[in-house]
Amino acid sequence: MSPHPLLSQRLSVPSRQLGPPAPTRDALHRMLEAALRVPDHGGIAPWRVLAIEGELRLALGEFLARRALELNPQAPQTAIDKDRLRFAHAPLVLTVVARLQQPSRIPEIEQILSAGCVCFALLQAAQELGFGAQWLTGWAAYDAKVMAHLGLGGNERIVGFIHVGTVREPARERPRPDPDAHFSVWTGECHASI
Ligand SMILES: Cc1cc2nc3c(=O)[nH]c(=O)nc-3n(C[C@H](O)[C@H](O)[C@H](O)COP(=O)(O)O)c2cc1C
Repeated sequence: MSPHPLLSQRLSVPSRQLGPPAPTRDALHRMLEAALRVPDHGGIAPWRVLAIEGELRLALGEFLARRALELNPQAPQTAIDKDRLRFAHAPLVLTVVARLQQPSRIPEIEQILSAGCVCFALLQAAQELGFGAQWLTGWAAYDAKVMAHLGLGGNERIVGFIHVGTVREPARERPRPDPDAHFSVWTGECHASI
């Protein structure tokens, strides 16, 4: 028996190959219900999901283009245009935000990992419902002004922009890792002494 095709055949569809329609509100609710079942140490729900859709995707693109020029006034026009169109393709972009509880007995990395699981689960849920999706970050995910523009608080981090939409052009498969190259069994040999 092999893992479910959702895992064994999962693949991203580049955002440029996505278009309308977006999932309905009902479909999105079901996607979120599934995706928020992630492992969550301490049950602290250290995440939230912020949708970017409609005209505001283009407005955000304009903001990114202006910010990119502010950061680098010599930036080539092609790079600025790319930023302007970052959110223009998929009709729905789900921003997965890690809401870090600080201080907490749950290490920060575990809170971010749980938010990362939300991203992956959203990809799977989108694929299960017949949509395409891609997890993107780029500089915008880490820029303080972009984060403030999206209303993030000081304890919040963008873990991913999950672009979701209808597949206009199917994704090409890429070579996948050989499990044997990424697996070993600990021999018990000591490498450090205490
Ligand atoms: C945290 C994270 C951030 C990513 N950001 C980008 C990105 O900004 N640009 C990009 O081209 N791919 C990015 N990717 C990779 C894509 O999500 C995707 O994995 C890639 O298109 C390959 O497709 P696959 O998921 O079918 O292997 C990112 C992946 C992760 C996990």
